[in-house]
Amino acid sequence: MTKDKGIRKGIACLAVFASGLLLLAGGSVTAERSEPGAFVSDQFSKSGLCSGCHGNIFGQWDGSMHSNANEDFFYQARLQEYVEAAEAAETGELPLTFCSSCHTPVGVVSEEIPPMDGSGLSEVAREGVQCDFCHVVVESEGIGNAPYILEPGDTKWGPPLRAAEEDAPPSHGIEGHEFYEESRYCGMCHNIYHPVNNLTLAATYTEWEESPYAEEGVRCQDCHMTPGIVGFEANPGKAASNGPDREHVYTHFFVGANAFVTDELGESRHEKRAIEYLKHAATLTVRVPENAEAGESVDVEVEITNSGAGHKLPTGVTEDREIWLELIVQDAAGKELYHSGSPDEKGGLDSGTTVYHTIFADSEGRPTVKAWEAESVLFDNRIPPKSSVVEQHSFLMPEGAVNPISVQAILHYRSASQEHIDALFGEGVYTVPVIDMATYPEEEMASSPGFGVLEMLSVLCMFMFLKKTKR
Ligand code: HEC
Ligand code: HEC
Ligand code: HEC
Ligand code: HEC
Ligand code: HEC
Repeated sequence: MTKDKGIRKGIACLAVFASGLLLLAGGSVTAERSEPGAFVSDQFSKSGLCSGCHGNIFGQWDGSMHSNANEDFFYQARLQEYVEAAEAAETGELPLTFCSSCHTPVGVVSEEIPPMDGSGLSEVAREGVQCDFCHVVVESEGIGNAPYILEPGDTKWGPPLRAAEEDAPPSHGIEGHEFYEESRYCGMCHNIYHPVNNLTLAATYTEWEESPYAEEGVRCQDCHMTPGIVGFEANPGKAASNGPDREHVYTHFFVGANAFVTDELGESRHEKRAIEYLKHAATLTVRVPENAEAGESVDVEVEITNSGAGHKLPTGVTEDREIWLELIVQDAAGKELYHSGSPDEKGGLDSGTTVYHTIFADSEGRPTVKAWEAESVLFDNRIPPKSSVVEQHSFLMPEGAVNPISVQAILHYRSASQEHIDALFGEGVYTVPVIDMATYPEEEMASSPGFGVLEMLSVLCMFMFLKKTKR
C-alpha cells in the first residue's frame, strides 16, 4: 500500500465511521484473525470465475497441491485419524477444525466444516487453497496456524500495484499490499504448531528465515512463483487477458516435491514439475581412497549438499517425507562390492540406512507419525539450506576384484515411507514413487570415476585411475 493510498483509506474510514480512534490506528482497522462463522461461502468466488480473465494463472493453479489441498486422499486419511483422536479426547482439547483451517480455509471461515467428512462443504470450499481466498487476505496476525484476516468482496488484494489506477479492471477493485511479496504471506500456513502443546510440527518459513536466502532477499515467491526454481526468473506475459503486457507475471504452479499425490490424481503437469524441483535441490560429492588392498577396509565418503532449496531438506510434513542415499560399489566386471540404501520388495529400508526426516515422540516417548500425538522431537537430521552432511561408508575389499572400481551414489526422495502409506490405506493400494534427486557421477559425465585395487596394481591402472578422477 502506498502512503498516499493509506491516507485516502483513512479518510474513507473517517467518513464512514466518523471516529477519531481509527485515525490513531494509522487509518487501518485493527482486525483479528478470521474465525469460524465469520463469513458465508457465497462471499467467495469460485476459481473458475477468475479464469475468464486470468486463464493462464488459473491453468497453473488448477492441479496444484493448493487446488487439491482439501481433496488430497493422503490428507483426508490423516484427517480422519485426527478426527477420531479429537473426538476421543476431552472436549475442546484438540480443536476439530485445526487441520481444515489450512486445507480448506473457506470451509472453516464459513463454518461448513464440521461435519468432518466434508459433506457440508460447498464447491468453493472444496477448492482448497483457492484464488479468492488468497486474494482477500488483507493482513496476517503472525506466522503459522493460519492467522489470516479476510475481507471477501469485490476488491481483490495483491502485490503493490504494478498497474496504473486506470488499468483497474471493471470486474473488481484492486488493493495492493507489500505483504503479498513477502515470505511471511506463505508463513501463515507453512509453519505448523501443535494446537495444544505448541510444539513445532513444521517450520518451512522459519527454516527459510534463518537461512542465507532470507538475508539475500530470495523469497518463497522467487522459487515457487517464477520459472527459476532456485531463484527469481522473469516470466513475461499478461496477468490478465484483457490487461497490458508485463515484464514479469508471477506463476501459480505452487510446485514443491509432491510427485506422489499429483501422479495418483492424474495431475501429470504438476508431477513432472515436482520432479524438476527435486532434481534442482541437492548435489553429491564422493571421496574414495586412491587405491586399496584386498582385505583392507575401504572408506567411502559422500557429501550431500542442500544446494537449491530455501529451507531444510526435506521440509514440511517431515514425519512422513524421506530422503536417503543409495551407494553402490562395483568392480569392472560388474561384481557388487557394496550396496546400501536399496529398498526391499516391500519398499522398506534396512536399519543401517540414514533417512533424513523428523521423528516425533508421544507423551510416553514412543515414536509416532501422528503429529497431534507429538509432545517432543525425538530425532531430526535434516539438511539446512546451503549446508552439507557427510556420510561415511566402509566395506572390505575382496580378493580378485577387477580394476577399476566404480562408485555410484543416488539421493532419493519419497513423499512418505511405504510403511506409513500401507498402514493408512492397506498394502498394495498405493506405491509411493521414489524420485532420484541427485546422482554421482552426474548423468552427463562420460565415464564413471573409480579407484584401483593395489593387489594387481600396474602403472597403467594407476594412471587410468588418476585420469578418471581428475575433474
Ligand atoms: C473481467 C476480467 C477479470 C476477472 C473475471 C477477474 N479479474 Fe483480476 N484482474 C483483471 C485485470 C484486467 C487485472 C489487471 C491486470 C494487470 O494490471 O496486469 C486484474 C488484476 C488482478 C490482481 C492483481 C492485483 C495487483 O495487486 O496487482 C489480482 C490479485 C486479481 N486480479 C485477482 C482476481 C481474482 C481472485 C479473480 C476471481 C475471483 C479475478 N481477479 C477475476 C481482470 C479480471
Ligand atoms: C496461496 C495463495 C494464492 C493462490 C491460491 C492464488 N494466488 Fe494469485 N498471488 C498470490 C501471491 C502471493 C501473489 C504475489 C506474488 C508476488 O508479488 O511476489 C499473487 C499474484 C497474483 C496476480 C498478479 C500477478 C502479477 O505478477 O502481476 C494475479 C492476477 C493473481 N495472483 C491471480 C490469481 C488467480 C486468478 C488465482 C487462482 C487461479 C490465484 N491468484 C491463486 C497468492 C495466491
Ligand atoms: C491457507 C494456507 C496456505 C497459504 C497461505 C499458502 N499455502 Fe502452500 N500449501 C498449503 C497446504 C495446505 C498445502 C498442502 C496441500 C496438500 O498437500 O494436501 C500447501 C502446499 C504447497 C506447496 C506444494 C508442496 C509439495 O509437497 O509439493 C508449495 C510449493 C506451496 N504450498 C508453496 C506456497 C507458497 C510459495 C505460498 C506463499 C505465496 C503458500 N504456499 C501459501 C497451504 C497454504
Ligand atoms: C532458493 C529456492 C527456494 C526458496 C527460497 C524456497 N523454496 Fe521451497 N522448495 C525449493 C525446492 C528446490 C524444492 C524441492 C526440494 C525440496 O523438497 O525441498 C522445494 C520444496 C518445497 C516444498 C515441498 C516440501 C516437501 O517435501 O513436501 C514446500 C512445501 C515448499 N518448498 C515451500 C516453500 C516456502 C513456504 C518457502 C518460503 C518460506 C520456500 N519454499 C522457499 C526451493 C525453494
Ligand atoms: C498451519 C497450516 C496447516 C495445518 C493446521 C495443517 N496442515 Fe497439513 N499441510 C500444510 C502444508 C503447508 C502442507 C504441505 C507441506 C509439505 O508439502 O510438506 C501440508 C501437508 C499435509 C499432508 C501431506 C499431504 C501430501 O499430499 O503429501 C498431510 C497428510 C497433512 N498435511 C495432514 C494434516 C492434518 C491431519 C492436519 C491436522 C492434524 C494438518 N495437516 C494441519 C498446512 C497445514
